[in-house]
This record gives sequence, C-alpha cells and structure tokens, in this order.
Amino acid sequence: MVPPDMTAQLIRKAVFPIAGLGTRFLPATKASAKEMLPVVDKPLIQYAVEEAYSAGIRQMIFVTGRTKRSVEDHFDTAYELENELEVAGKLSLLSIARSIAPDDMLCTYVRQPRALGLGHAVLCSRELVGSEPFAVLLADDLMVGTPPVMAQMVAQYTEWRASILAVQDVPREHTRRYGIVSGREVADGIVDVSGIVEKPEPAAAPTTLAVAGRYILSAGVFKELEALPRGVGGEIQLTDGIAQLLRREKVFAYRYRGTRYDCGSKLGFLQATVDLGEEHAEVGAEFRQWITERAGSTTRKA
Ligand code: UTP
Repeated sequence: MVPPDMTAQLIRKAVFPIAGLGTRFLPATKASAKEMLPVVDKPLIQYAVEEAYSAGIRQMIFVTGRTKRSVEDHFDTAYELENELEVAGKLSLLSIARSIAPDDMLCTYVRQPRALGLGHAVLCSRELVGSEPFAVLLADDLMVGTPPVMAQMVAQYTEWRASILAVQDVPREHTRRYGIVSGREVADGIVDVSGIVEKPEPAAAPTTLAVAGRYILSAGVFKELEALPRGVGGEIQLTDGIAQLLRREKVFAYRYRGTRYDCGSKLGFLQATVDLGEEHAEVGAEFRQWITERAGSTTRKA
C-alpha cells in the first residue's frame, strides 16, 4: 500500500455533508447538530475531520444546514477560551483546544438550503470542489482503523485512479439500510462495481456488500447528480448519482479494514461510546473496571 504522505496531493479536499435532520436522535437534535454529539469527549465531526487530515487532506468543506453553527464555532479559533487556559497555566488543555484546527487546515462552509438528500448535499459542494477528485465523509459513521480508513482509501485511489466506495459485508436482513453494490472482485478487497442500488429489500438485494459513509469520488459525479430527477420525498440520492457515473467511469468498492459505528442510530452511538471509552487514555482503565464489576453484579442479581 502507498503511504498517505506520497498520495496527499491527489485527494486534497473532503466534503462533510452535515445538513441532515438527524430525526433518529430527537430530541437531542431538535436545536443542535447531530455531528456535535460527543463520543466520550470528542464530537463526531472531529473524528471525521481528523481521519481526513491524517489521510493528507487539508481542505475541509462542510455542507451545513440549520442548527449547524456550532460546527463552525468548533473549528474556529476560541480566543477567550485559549486566553483563559493560558492564564490559568492549563497547557495540556490549551494544546487540545488548539489542535482542533491545525494552522495548515482550511475549513470552508456551504449551506444546503433544504435537506433534499445526501446527493443534493454533495452537489452543493460543487463550486468549492471544482474539477478534482474529492473525499466524502459522513461523520455519523464513526470509523476506527489502522491506518485510518480514509488513508486506506486514498492509497487505493492512488493505485486505481477511479472513484472508490468503502464497503463492508452486512447481514442480509440489513440490506434495506444501505446502498448495496455488485461487481467482480479484481484484487484482494477490491470490487470492480457493475451496479449499485439504494436500500434494497433483503430478498431483492444483489449482494450483501454495503456502502459505508466513506467515498472518494470523481468530479464527474456532479454532472450526474445535477441531471437526476428528484426521487421519493423530493430527495436526490448519492447512490443514484453513482449509479449514473458507473455508465461512464470505473467505480471500485474497497473492503476497508476497521470498525464502523453507526452513530446516527442510538445503538451504534452507545456501542461507540463503550468501545472508545474502554480505550480512552484518561478514563479507560477505570471505565473497564467499572464495566467488569457491573457485569459481575448484574450476573449475581440474575
Ligand atoms: P442520514 O439519512 O443518516 O441523516 O444521512 P439524517 O437525515 O441527518 O438522519 P435521520 O435519518 O433523520 O436520523 C446521512 C448523512 O447525510 C447528511 C446527514 O447530515 C448525514 O451526515 N445529509 C442527509 C445532508 O447533509 N443533507 C441531506 O439532505 C440529507
């Protein structure tokens, strides 16, 4: 695999669509952004931005909507906070606050006026992306991998020079939650995609290979998204844009190495909190001990 530092120039921009309504997380998401929900001590969006940064990407493009102003504030400099921490001599906290937005990272924001679907959100980034290939990261899919999943994908892009979709095998009864791809395995973990369908019923799903929230897309996808008719509920689906792109360009699916937590769902969010809590440098050991003791006392009660 080509290391990320040799490939950084090829994928320079990442799009973070964060304009969804987050209805599965109501009431928390009524007035606040789902992407600002913290897993242990870090908001979901920061995990995704760090993943893109570690893949050599420096321009972060956020497609925002109502309630998302806190995301802009999060990646902005917080002068008062930094000053307070400096005066109080809390230098390790100061370095945490400063590391959120490194100097060489550029954050730009574009508004999606109405939540018209993920495809429409990606289309809103067109002017900022221009004509180069770009990454898309859905922050509610929290990915843990070594190397980080986007770095794995950038390395795959360097080899295949075509759009790459992160995929994983899912139980057949779950196909209706995902975009499902079909195609031919052409290398270890790489599928030459011949078809993609959005949320098929288990009986109709061509495979069980599901798209996770990480993509590298050629700019050709914008033209396809623009030409798409509105689907159900007036939404424009990214899956449909990719299905059209397939007619003109190669698209590969890559079985990423790592773990995905669906933090757009309450269960996935809780699982991420427990797993990352157990690994956390500051509280992990104590938390693991608490979980072990709690499991023991629950068993005794039962
Ligand atoms: P989801 O369907 O998971 O997000 O979209 P949602 O609509 O926010 O959540 P629920 O289903 O109502 O709970 C996947 C990603 O696409 C973004 C979301 O913010 C999320 O990151 N998205 C979706 C947009 O940016 N705009 C849209 O119109 C729709």
